[in-house]
Amino acid sequence: MLKKLSGLSGLSIVALLTIVQTEAFAQGTIIPVETKSNALVLQTNSTNNLNIVYLGPKLTDKKEYEAITAVYKQTAEYTGVSNAAYATSGSRNLFEPALTVTHADGNNSLDLQYVRHETKKLNDNVSLLTVVLKDPVYDLEVKLFYKTYFKEDVTEQWSEIKNNEKGNVVLQKFASANLYLKADDFWLRQYHGDWAKEMQAEESKLTHGIKTLDSKLGTRTNLFQPPSFMVSLNQPATEDEGAVLYGSLEWSGNFRIDLELDNQDNLRIIAGINNHASAMTLTPGEVFTTPVFLSVLSFNGKGEASRKLQSWARNYKLLGGKGSRLTLLNNWEATYFDFNETKLKALLKDTKELGVDLFLLDDGWFANKYPRNNDDAGLGDWQENKTKLPNGIASLVSEAQANDVKFGIWVEPEMVNPRSELYEKHPDWVVKQPNRKEYYFRNQLVLDLSNPQVQQFVFNTIDNLFTKNPKLAYIKWDCNAVVYNAYSAHLKNQSHFYVQYVQGLYSVLQKLRKKYPTVPMMLCSGGGGRVDYAALQYFTEFWPSDNTDPLERVFMQWEYSYFYPAVSSGNHVTDWGKQPIKYRTDVAMMGKLGFDIVVSKLNEKDLKFCQDAIKTYNAVKPIIWQGNQYRLQNPVGNDVAAVLYLNEERTTGVIFNYLVNNRYDAGSSRPIRLKGLDAQKRYRIKELNLYPGTSSTIDDTKTYTGEFLMKVGYNPDVKASRASVVLELKAE
Ligand code: GLA
Repeated sequence: MLKKLSGLSGLSIVALLTIVQTEAFAQGTIIPVETKSNALVLQTNSTNNLNIVYLGPKLTDKKEYEAITAVYKQTAEYTGVSNAAYATSGSRNLFEPALTVTHADGNNSLDLQYVRHETKKLNDNVSLLTVVLKDPVYDLEVKLFYKTYFKEDVTEQWSEIKNNEKGNVVLQKFASANLYLKADDFWLRQYHGDWAKEMQAEESKLTHGIKTLDSKLGTRTNLFQPPSFMVSLNQPATEDEGAVLYGSLEWSGNFRIDLELDNQDNLRIIAGINNHASAMTLTPGEVFTTPVFLSVLSFNGKGEASRKLQSWARNYKLLGGKGSRLTLLNNWEATYFDFNETKLKALLKDTKELGVDLFLLDDGWFANKYPRNNDDAGLGDWQENKTKLPNGIASLVSEAQANDVKFGIWVEPEMVNPRSELYEKHPDWVVKQPNRKEYYFRNQLVLDLSNPQVQQFVFNTIDNLFTKNPKLAYIKWDCNAVVYNAYSAHLKNQSHFYVQYVQGLYSVLQKLRKKYPTVPMMLCSGGGGRVDYAALQYFTEFWPSDNTDPLERVFMQWEYSYFYPAVSSGNHVTDWGKQPIKYRTDVAMMGKLGFDIVVSKLNEKDLKFCQDAIKTYNAVKPIIWQGNQYRLQNPVGNDVAAVLYLNEERTTGVIFNYLVNNRYDAGSSRPIRLKGLDAQKRYRIKELNLYPGTSSTIDDTKTYTGEFLMKVGYNPDVKASRASVVLELKAE
C-alpha cells in the first residue's frame, strides 16, 4: 500500500480515501484462462477492476499465479488499470481504450468493475469463460467472453455491451478484446498489399506509442491490409524457436488493431471493429456484440503457432475444414468476357479431358439490356445473357453432366454497375451520397446491405440460381469494389452503415447456409481483398490473389499459410509468370488445385503432365489438406524454398521445393533439414510430378531414418534444370 501511495502524490485526499476504502478487494479474484500450454491470467485489483496479470506458459500450480504481480518491479503505475482486461475511457485509464461510451446524460466516463464470472465446458476441448463487468455509476454492463480451444492453444475473445440506462448510449469505440503482454521487446510482423500484391510482409521492432493496423475500405476491406498479424516476444521468432502470438480479427469490414507500447514497456493490443465514422447508438435494453478476436500463442516458433491455428481452423472454423474440395477448370483467363455457349461446351469437354472435377464459369454470363461484355455494365442483372447463352445456364449444367463433370458459377451479388437495370430500378439500394458526384471502383458501386430488401435481393440472386439449377455445384462469390461515399438511403443513423453492412452480409450468408449447408463456395474479392475467419465460416476456400505468377505465389502462399490451412487456399495454374507448366502446377498443388488455362492450346507433353499431375494430386491431397505443414526453408534469403506436409501418423509426406533465385549456379547446394518426422522410422523418398520424358535424379532405392532427415537433411537436387521438385516421403 505504501509503495502505491508514493506514486500517487498528486492525487487528492478524496481519491486516496477511495483506494483505502476499496482495500477489501485487494486480495483479488484470480481467473486463469488456461489452454494446453498457456495461461491468460485475469485478476481484480484493489478497486475491483479486472486486469490481465499474465499471458505466458501455464504453471502447474494454479495458486502460484497469485505471486506473479509482485515479481515485476516496473516503473510506477499510476492508475491500477493500465493492464485492464477491457480498457475504458473517461475515468482513470491513461492509455488507448477498448470501450468509449457516451451515456444517456451526455457523460463520457466509464469504469468497469468485476461482478461475477462463470466457466462452461462446451465439450472435451472447448470452454467458455464469461466475465460480467458493470459500471458502479452508470447502468452499463459488459460481458467479456473467452472461448478456449485447449489442444490448439487458441483463444477467441469478444464482448457484449448492454445498455441498461433509460436513454440511448453511444458507443464511440467498441473493441472486441484487450491483451496485455510483458517482454523485453516486441516484434510485429504485419502485412500490406494491393491488387495482385497481397500479403507483403514487414517485420519491425515496436517502439513506444501506438502502431495501428486498420482498414476503412468498407468492402474489399483487406485490399491494403489484412486483419492478421503476429507479435514475437523478446526477439523475432524463427520457424522453430521463440515466443510468438498470432492475432486476427474475425470480421469482414473495417477493423482496427492498436498495438501500444506503454511507459512500463508493456504491450497493449486492442482489436476490434474500426470505430472510424461508426459510433453505434444503443437504445435502452439493447446489446451490441462485437466480433471475435482470435489469438494463438506459441513458445516454439512460428511453425508451431501456425500448425495450431491451421488445425483449429480445420476443426472449428472453416466451412468443411475436414471435408473434401473440387479441383476445377476456370474460364476467366481463358476467355475473359468473350464466350458463348459453343465455346463453353468445348471448355466442358476440356474439363473432362484434363481430369478435374468441375468447370467454373466466371464473369460475363449475365445481363441483357446492358450486357456484361466488359466490366462497365450489367452487374446486378443476374439473368443469363440471351446472346451468349440462348439456352441458359441449365443447358450448360446438363452438358457438364453429360461430360461427367460438375458445374460452378461466378457471382458478385453485392455490387451494381450504374449501367444496369438494377440501378435504374432501385437507385435507393445503392451506396452513394445523394448530393455528391458518384465515384466508381472498377466502374461499379456497392449495394446497401444494411437494407433488408437488398439482403433479400442478394439471397434471391443465389437462391434462384440453385432453384433453377439444382445440380449447380460451386459458387465463386466476388466483391471487387470498396465503399466510396458511404451513405445508406435506408439507415436513419449513417454512423451505423459500415457495421450494419457487414451484419447484413452475414445474415444473407447465414440464410444461404441454412438452405445450402455444404455447397462449396469460394471467397474472392478481386483476389484476396476479403480473407478473414468470420467470412470463412460460410466459405470453403478463398482466392488468395489474382496474381498467379508461381514465383510470386511461393512467397504469398508462404505468408498466408501462417494463418490459413492449405485446404482453404484456392490455387490456380494460369499463364501468369515465365515458369514452365510443371513449376506452375507444383506451386498450385500446395492448396486446392485448379486451372485457368486454354487446355486445347497445351502441347501434348504439357497436357499429359497436367493430367498425370491431377491424378497424383488426387492421391496426395488428403496429406496437403489435412496434414501438418512444416515450412522447411524460407523463400526469403534462400535460393530454394521448401515446404513439407506430413500426415498425422508421420508416415507419409509431400515436400515441395522451388528454385526462387535465377542467379548463376543457384540451387540446393546444401541439404534441407526435414521436420516433424519420427526419428526412429526409415523413410523412402520418391520424386512425383515428373515432366514427360524426364527422369528423376533422386535415388528412391535408398531409405533414411527420420533422425538423419531431421539432423542432416535431404537434398532435393533443385537447380535451374530442376526448378521445382515434388517429393513423396513414405515410412517403410
Ligand atoms: C475479380 C476476380 C477474378 C475474376 C474477375 C472477374 O478480379 O478476382 O478472379 O473473377 O473478378 O471479373
